[in-house]
Amino acid sequence: MALPDYFLQELKDRSDINDIISSYVNLKRRGKNLVGLCPFHNEKTGSFTVYPENGSFYCFGCHAGGDVITFIMKIENLDYIEAVKFLAGRAGLKMPEDGVDDSLSKLKTRVLEINRETARFYHSCLMSEEGKKGLEYFTKRGLSQSIIRRFGLGYSPDSKFALVNHLKKLRFTNEEMIAANVALPTRSGNVIDRFYARAMFPIIDLRGNVVAFGGRILTDEKPKYINTSDTPVYKKSQGLFAMNFAKNVKDERLILAEGYMDVISLHAAGFTGAIASLGTSLTSEQAKVIARYAKEVVICYDSDEAGQKAAQRAIPILRDTGLLVKVMAVPGNKDPDEFIRMNGKDGPARFKQLLESSGNDVEYRLLKLKTGFDLKSNDGKVRYLTAASEVLSSLENAIELEVYAGKLSEEIGVEKSAIINQSKKISAQRRRQREKKQLRDDIKFMGTEDSKVNPEKAENPRVANAEEGIIAYLFYNSDALRYVSERLPAQEFRTSFGRRVYSFIINHNSVTKPLSLTDFTQEFTVEEMSAISRILASRNEARVSARDADEYIDIIKHEAAFKGADQILKADEEDIKNYFKALRDKKK
Ligand code: UTP
Ligand code: MN
Repeated sequence: MALPDYFLQELKDRSDINDIISSYVNLKRRGKNLVGLCPFHNEKTGSFTVYPENGSFYCFGCHAGGDVITFIMKIENLDYIEAVKFLAGRAGLKMPEDGVDDSLSKLKTRVLEINRETARFYHSCLMSEEGKKGLEYFTKRGLSQSIIRRFGLGYSPDSKFALVNHLKKLRFTNEEMIAANVALPTRSGNVIDRFYARAMFPIIDLRGNVVAFGGRILTDEKPKYINTSDTPVYKKSQGLFAMNFAKNVKDERLILAEGYMDVISLHAAGFTGAIASLGTSLTSEQAKVIARYAKEVVICYDSDEAGQKAAQRAIPILRDTGLLVKVMAVPGNKDPDEFIRMNGKDGPARFKQLLESSGNDVEYRLLKLKTGFDLKSNDGKVRYLTAASEVLSSLENAIELEVYAGKLSEEIGVEKSAIINQSKKISAQRRRQREKKQLRDDIKFMGTEDSKVNPEKAENPRVANAEEGIIAYLFYNSDALRYVSERLPAQEFRTSFGRRVYSFIINHNSVTKPLSLTDFTQEFTVEEMSAISRILASRNEARVSARDADEYIDIIKHEAAFKGADQILKADEEDIKNYFKALRDKKK
């Protein structure tokens, strides 16, 4: 049975791989990923890794891998359809029967209607006697009537049934209210309001639908904010507050703030490119949305320690999407909201000054780094330069490298060329290490799992490695799809497995809908899913760069041009052998 796309999409959205695997495996966070003891073989140290970014898992010990569906197939011993049913049950989704089941799209429509009615209700409460406290609160925080209206702010009454009674009158069911997460079920089978006695901030998606709410308590009680959890129409990890306004900014520069109030103050002061991630630290999904509407993003978090840590975490996530990232420092331990208001009518102008003078993230990182060294001593200078060269070595752009090396050179009084050389040395070292590791891994896998899935790999490991490199590259860089597919037709792939995976990617991927492993499960076997997961997992930490990809394309095309010429095949194998010999010799 072929399952409809919308259903699989929904199943995927509602089956968070972390959540699901966590109920079988004790996972610990390691950087972007999670690691635990593999449930498929016995081990003492965790080599089982979950990659939330692309929805996959992979065990470096027993080579089991795949997506959520594969995981359930393996651990519950189910076939594909049974595993889908299992997950659908868990997610509260009805299996589509004979063709189209539109219960979900109906529910989505109802949830959106509830959200719209709820926003209206809270707004009218704010403007009535009941909401006096809320209105006072907003006014005290400097918000005008017009900005309150623009953001559709509201107040949830201090009662457990105000909203649910209102929605019942409008003939919404308890189930629908619960699905929208504006109400909570009680033991007696009734529902109560989720938000009460809070200042309400509706969250509006790019199409103008109210999709969620944030509610701030008016006192010092905790929690300060509560937010809508994931619903059929909302995914927290993708939501950005005020993106519905900010997407229209002319200068393609967005300001990423920390909180609702910061964003509103910034908009009120004329900075309509201000947005915030909501109740979560910035995710790569949010970064991708930002990158779709802007070229540059200025991080403007609180200047306290937590804010600065969050900024450090956000920088690489934003940079990975190709955005130019700057970091703005708000003086005096203030958040942007406090800063603007503190400066009265000069607030906007002074904020504008800060914005224009914000450094880009390399500058910012160097500045942070510098505080750790004593630059009066020679030893301190040397150590600072070494650490700084490490930072510069990650720059792919030669002009940027020139600029920062120049600055450092003036600052410390060391030749610019020496700094540049040192950075280049570090990045070359890193590249060599990566290649070494890749080849080592590949040799390890030969004659095992992969030889069954991709028997042709052994005949020409170098080309197979290039093919895998391209596959991983497209997985992690869906925007490069056009560039690669125009230069590299699928028939030029040498191994039939590589060709199949590549064809699948170029036929299914699109810039707007990034690839996830779950798209593959209908077409590929469990063993093949493991092999694909390995291809991604082994290139997760050291990503294939655009430069590497070009090289891989050349390798594949070169091979395609000479296909069948035995000598060339042998020469390639010779290459590999020589390479390893050279490596061994070097170690001795
Ligand atoms: P802040 O505590 O900095 O909030 O948290 P704020 O917006 O400056 O709040 P005010 O000025 O005291 O009203 C930053 C953001 O983190 C989320 C909210 O999105 C908040 O805007 N947050 C914070 C929560 O989701 N829950 C919390 O309990 C606290
Ligand atoms: Mn604040």
